[in-house]
Amino acid sequence: MTQDELKTLVGRAALDSVVPGSVIGVGTGSTVNKFIDALATMKERIVGAVSSSAASTTRLQALGIRVFDANEVERIPVYIDGADEIDGRGFMIKGGGAALTREKIVADLAERFVCIVDESKRVAVLGKFALPVEVIDMAREQVARRFRALGGRPVLRQGVLTDNGHPLLDVHGLSITDPLALEAEINQWPGVVAVGIFARHRARVCLLGTSTGVQRLAFD
Ligand code: A5P
Repeated sequence: MTQDELKTLVGRAALDSVVPGSVIGVGTGSTVNKFIDALATMKERIVGAVSSSAASTTRLQALGIRVFDANEVERIPVYIDGADEIDGRGFMIKGGGAALTREKIVADLAERFVCIVDESKRVAVLGKFALPVEVIDMAREQVARRFRALGGRPVLRQGVLTDNGHPLLDVHGLSITDPLALEAEINQWPGVVAVGIFARHRARVCLLGTSTGVQRLAFD
């Protein structure tokens, strides 16, 4: 199976995690796009969605799914999103699509994060994928110096601003053995809007697309 077919497989499999009659938290990326397409087949059975990016909002609305502002929603049962890497405890790196801040906001509204990935995203230790960090521009160099002090190699993502209008650093060369501690540390640096470590907001379930079908990994 191609990677695209694996994404379609897990996108469809995620329908089983949708709670009928609820608002669904919807992530961002090529795998989530497959989920959104599948979600359209049961749109009459959900109230709508809270979206983590302008791109997902456009796709949801084009398919006739109502999109709520995050401020209108207090709690949602499930958030469904992809990841750039996921480890054996459900900790993830996200933000390859530049949507990490809004993804974390919607994940925070949810009782359960269901991660949908193809098997290429499964890792033993996070960090081979460069860690995305959304920053306030005037703090960009100070945040970069702090990453260098940790042994990382931050690179400004050229020509990209997030939906919030901020630049991104992609930090290469980190081996993230303690995602909870590193996320907490980076969150304290002035000028960091969001770091792409999803440890506090880890996945509780991962639907992993493999050549032999969808594997369901539970991390509770
Ligand atoms: C978006 O900012 C990311 O967090 C995505 O969830 C991640 O990059 C996965 O995207 P794909 O499904 O396109 O690989």
